[in-house]
Amino acid sequence: MQDKLPEYLPGLEGVPATRSNISFIDGRAGLLEYRGFPIETLAEHSTFEETALLLLDGQLPTAAALEEFDRAMRNTRRVKYNVREMMKFMPVTGHPMDMLQTAVASLGMFYPAYDLLANGPRSDLDYVHKMSVRIIARMPTLVTMWEHIRNGNDPVPPRDDLTHAENFLYMLKGKQPDPLFARILDVCLILHAEHTINASTFAVLVAGSTLASPYGVIAGAIGTLSGPLHGGANEKVVEMLMEIGDAKNVDRIIDARLARKEKIWGMGHREYKTKDPRATILQGLMDRLAEQRGLKHSRLFETAMAVEKAAERRLAEKGVYPNVDFYSGVLYYEMGIKTDLFTPIFAMARSAGWLAHWREQLSDNRIFRPTQVYTGERQREYVPLERRGAEA
Ligand code: COA
Repeated sequence: MQDKLPEYLPGLEGVPATRSNISFIDGRAGLLEYRGFPIETLAEHSTFEETALLLLDGQLPTAAALEEFDRAMRNTRRVKYNVREMMKFMPVTGHPMDMLQTAVASLGMFYPAYDLLANGPRSDLDYVHKMSVRIIARMPTLVTMWEHIRNGNDPVPPRDDLTHAENFLYMLKGKQPDPLFARILDVCLILHAEHTINASTFAVLVAGSTLASPYGVIAGAIGTLSGPLHGGANEKVVEMLMEIGDAKNVDRIIDARLARKEKIWGMGHREYKTKDPRATILQGLMDRLAEQRGLKHSRLFETAMAVEKAAERRLAEKGVYPNVDFYSGVLYYEMGIKTDLFTPIFAMARSAGWLAHWREQLSDNRIFRPTQVYTGERQREYVPLERRGAEA
């Protein structure tokens, strides 16, 4: 029986895990589309709110639909005081991704379980939409709440007269955000909102297929995103660039890293064999930031560009080029955001894509139950404890 199994592909590379019409990647051409719209178009013309609704519903919303979604998001930004109290009992040294995962899972404690098997498709869709709005709208509140609590301060409550991106920056810094920073963050949220079946989205499909609650589903995805091979890479990029320190050190340090078989963080992607189109858009945003600062690029960005060139000379033959994490970390750093908040910001954005996939999974659900290639022994003799080791 085991002999007839198809070949095992580590990391399931190239194995379709689902059918989806949410996003599309052409990794050779370096293209990414959400619901058929090129990422460059959305980055230029859309907002995170519109992109999130596009991902959830599959269509560009009408003005009225977008207004309703935006209003619902603004009205649901606040979280119950119990979540704030719970955070106060957590160790301040805890990573914000662990706190975010805990906080999102805790939201499930406040709402009665919904039986996705007992209700009709119409009420299921209403439920799924309502949960999606609630989770997407509250992620920024949870992220900034922990930032203040871990520093011994009271959280800054959300404002409903600001956009999603503006409100996040306002809650984080406690003051009206710079309009360019708000637009840069808005574009970053658009670029991180969705990316086909990556590890965390796959986790959504698996958890969603059991009909688990959306809080459990998204908490699982947040845990999956936290690893350095996935969302955690943006944090590692800035650490690496800081360690390099200056563009003149790049060649020496990159050679040493590669000789030690270490990764160049923010480089390489399972799907892209050329430069990630999101990295190119982010580089453009760095230029806009430099324009505001009198055409001066920061030392960190200059180092990043030198690393890109050095890596291209050494790794292009393997199809390893900058991915989205390479420049997003640099941008957030330039905006005065702490490095351990980079992945939570990624999660805030990706919640839109995760919930679109949750909805798609539920619309044609079958529980995930893959198989395995068993490599262990069979039918072994149980040796009583007192006789074990005696044979050796
Ligand atoms: N730095 C140096 N070499 C890299 C590399 C990197 N960032 N990414 C891939 N490579 C090399 C591998 O060492 C391997 O070389 P080999 O064939 O000589 O052994 C080859 O490129 C293929 O890489 P592989 O690890 O098999 O690719 P993957 O599809 O399994 O992994 C990533 C994809 C993203 C996990 C991987 O590129 C990586 O770890 N990148 C750094 C982390 C990162 O930025 N993650 C964010 C992704 S958005």
